[in-house]
Amino acid sequence: MKEKITKNSEETIYLGRKLGYLLKDGDVVLLDGTLASGKTTFTKGIGLSLGIERTISSPTFTILKHYEMDDVSLYHLDLYRLDGENHDFDLEDYISGDGITVIEWPFNVRSILPKKYLLVQFEIINDNERKIKFIPYGEHYERVLFYL
Ligand SMILES: Nc1ncnc2c1ncn2[C@@H]1O[C@H](COP(=O)(O)OP(=O)(O)OP(=O)(O)O)[C@@H](O)[C@H]1O
Ligand SMILES: [Mg+2]
Repeated sequence: MKEKITKNSEETIYLGRKLGYLLKDGDVVLLDGTLASGKTTFTKGIGLSLGIERTISSPTFTILKHYEMDDVSLYHLDLYRLDGENHDFDLEDYISGDGITVIEWPFNVRSILPKKYLLVQFEIINDNERKIKFIPYGEHYERVLFYL
């Protein structure tokens, strides 16, 4: 487990970028936290680390956005809209091939969760500060956190 405090959006983007550099194809990052706690902001940073130049915005109304670069791709899912319904689908139904997967509101659809992932919990401290906690599920993610 690792915990960081960011004092503004830029610091959250920077942290996402730092994490992004440590990720590899097939990795799954779950972003948990209330509305406006910084999940999409953090994802922008991951995108930057992968060289994604298209603006990363919340995919709330589409569930999935796929950003593709020459040798990397990012799947950005937002399951907010699916809350309270009885969904049963696998991640494989949404993503194909390798890539890094980032999921906002992951616990809205429990069937989608893989066995191993990096959980990132966002907490609002005040208008500008966020507490960001990293919890690894799997040895690979423990190693990633060591370098974060
Ligand atoms: N330290 C911070 N880190 C991230 N965002 C911050 C911070 N301080 C203030 N903010 C503001 O909080 C908001 C975070 O919005 P963001 O879309 O990233 O949240 P979210 O967790 O994705 O929300 P949602 O659940 O609606 O998708 C932005 O308006 C951002 O400017
Ligand atoms: Mg969001």
